[in-house]
Amino acid sequence: MSSTVLIGAQWGDEGKGKIIDVLSARADWVVRYQGGSNAGHTVEIGEQRFVLHLIPSGLLHPACRGIIGNGVVVDPVALLKEIDGLRERGIEPAGRLFVSDRAHVVLPFHRLLDARREQNRAGGTLIGTTKRGIGPAYGDKASRVGLRMADLVAPDLADLLRPRLAEQNRILEALGAPAMDTAAVVAEYQAAAARLAPFVADTIPMLHAAVARGERILFEGAQGTMLDIDFGTYPFVTSSNATAGGACAGSGVPPHRIGQVVGVVKAYTTRVGEGPFPTELKDETGARLREEGREFGATTGRPRRCGWFDAVVARHAVMINGIDWWAVTKLDVLDALETLRICTAYECDGRRLEHVPADVRVLERCRPVYEDFRGWRSSTREATRFEDLPERARAYLARLEELTGAPVGILSVGPRRESTLWLKAAGEGA
Ligand code: GDP
Ligand code: IMO
Ligand code: MG
Repeated sequence: MSSTVLIGAQWGDEGKGKIIDVLSARADWVVRYQGGSNAGHTVEIGEQRFVLHLIPSGLLHPACRGIIGNGVVVDPVALLKEIDGLRERGIEPAGRLFVSDRAHVVLPFHRLLDARREQNRAGGTLIGTTKRGIGPAYGDKASRVGLRMADLVAPDLADLLRPRLAEQNRILEALGAPAMDTAAVVAEYQAAAARLAPFVADTIPMLHAAVARGERILFEGAQGTMLDIDFGTYPFVTSSNATAGGACAGSGVPPHRIGQVVGVVKAYTTRVGEGPFPTELKDETGARLREEGREFGATTGRPRRCGWFDAVVARHAVMINGIDWWAVTKLDVLDALETLRICTAYECDGRRLEHVPADVRVLERCRPVYEDFRGWRSSTREATRFEDLPERARAYLARLEELTGAPVGILSVGPRRESTLWLKAAGEGA
């Protein structure tokens, strides 16, 4: 199958960057289709560690070309910083990175509004955003007042930008935030536009020609299913469709060209930011997972909340994304635990729930129903074949497959490329 959509099945940070890196060794194109610089995808290659925010992780493979699709919101300044960062490390994006001319632009007032709204929110409604301007940028897109990359590189950028800045300054002022220096912003964006112009392209015919040639396309989801604006824990979500359906709307590739969907899950669960998290561990074990798994945000450095694997969430992700197989990451983080738990259902107000409820107030009241497992208490880090794994680790994974209804195709037991096991379910398509 020539095109694969890879999505996060939890609350983001599942290890998508690592799995994309592994899969893109066999891809011709890697396409980001939603989100923006709120994403933080980590790839470890030998002693080198890369964290990518807007640039598709596949670009680390020299033969791979990258597309930032129309569904992404692009912060030009952040993108240039990332391009420069790669150049400093000997990776040249020019000529193989293309940004859709239809992608919307994140402007300074989006970031300022994002931060100010968070600051003004009362305790219970705080989202804990990454403050990258994502919500306001998608808000402008839906309100049809956004600027797109085609506008950014147009000769009349200043004329388009000035009235927007004037209007937004009035809003910032009303919110008690300092106003922007209009001339400085115009100059900064004109300079960024000049540098980014060679990257901006109509990516739709490029992708269609690639499909026609039978080239392999990998769609790199950002965030995760539970952060999806429609299917996640609204309003504690991001502002785009992080699920598989977003790949078509965010790239212009039609649904019948999608070959398979790979779901990335951690062998446990993490969440960064606010919002319900039924299997969260606020105890010693949670702290241990955070320490063993180095669970600190790749974008904001915030400590991630940690908890047990939640099969209700994973089943939700299988349904919505049509996950063909799992890439399970960070199994090694569980190596030392004496006991492990998997949440199989929720109990709420005396009822048993098999599915994620829409109302976060209900989800907040949900108590997980757990199944317990004895830990394997030995290292899985050196395993190269499934058969090398301790029997209890295999039993844990078998139960995960059973409870979620999807098989494991890739198993990751460390951050590096080498720490990857390929299982039958990944088949030819991988
Ligand atoms: P993403 O946003 O889904 O790409 O995930 P992040 O990069 O934000 O967070 C995942 C973290 O786990 C990164 O630091 C990875 O290097 C690391 N990682 C990925 N897979 C594994 C694994 O199998 N074991 C361990 N120990 N770390 C992993
Ligand atoms: P990757 O691609 C984890 C979370 C934020 C916040 C909520 C909304 O690395 O998995 P936003 O800035 O998008 O408006 O914040 O979503 N969030 C993420 N959490 N991984 C991410 O990306 C995230 N991107 C956004 O913490 O709770
Ligand atoms: Mg991340």
